[in-house]
Amino acid sequence: MQKMIIAIDGLAATGKSTQAKRLATYLKYRYIDSGAMYRAVTWFALQNNCCASPKQCDVNALIAHLPALQITFKTIEKGSSTLFLNGENREKEIRGMEVSQWVSTVAAIPEVRTFLVDQQRSMVQMQGIVMDGRDIGTVVFPNADLKFFFTAQPKVRAQRRYDELRAAGQNPEYKVVLQNVTERDRLDSTRAIAPLVKAPDAIEIDVSDLDLEATFQRLLTHLPKNH
Ligand code: CDP
Repeated sequence: MQKMIIAIDGLAATGKSTQAKRLATYLKYRYIDSGAMYRAVTWFALQNNCCASPKQCDVNALIAHLPALQITFKTIEKGSSTLFLNGENREKEIRGMEVSQWVSTVAAIPEVRTFLVDQQRSMVQMQGIVMDGRDIGTVVFPNADLKFFFTAQPKVRAQRRYDELRAAGQNPEYKVVLQNVTERDRLDSTRAIAPLVKAPDAIEIDVSDLDLEATFQRLLTHLPKNH
């Protein structure tokens, strides 16, 4: 069977990446975490003083840097995906709360989106792909073969992200995580370009009461019979 393009979009911290990774491993497809790419540009902007308080970025300075940014993914262990920025492993840095607090501002810059969307489209080539994000089924691959849209109650999402961050050795306050998750949803849904919205043909899954295994089993029920 011809290899598919599978898009998983949805609200912040709904477990899109975890499921997308698992589905890609199951299908022997490539997995791309588009959110990691927005996080990498944001981390770079913070490192290079392109963003300052209050929530404003020096857009022109950041745009001038974009052509020099090289974003790649490597599989260091089976089923994982590690982001490299200009040859350096930045996986840990991009997951921190500071990047989370700025990323929706940077992701609303049209030039940043054009820069990353071009790269995301070029990653398909001949192989099957599972890509997760906010605009994969609407903008990056509107003709994707299969589209999912994940939602969940804000408190469930914040608790899962809080647990993830703690497991990764960070020590955020729960209420800061909750506030960040809801604020990112608000900014991502209301931006002018490529807002977070469910594609009309996407399958919506509320994962509030589903654990990882149940969510994955639900995804599998939507794969074509002969996948
Ligand atoms: O993992 P989580 O759902 O918290 O977020 P992420 O996928 O790492 O994405 C981080 C941020 O990048 C989002 O809040 C969006 O602002 C932005 N993003 C986007 O605008 N478009 C995408 N395709 C992916 C992420």
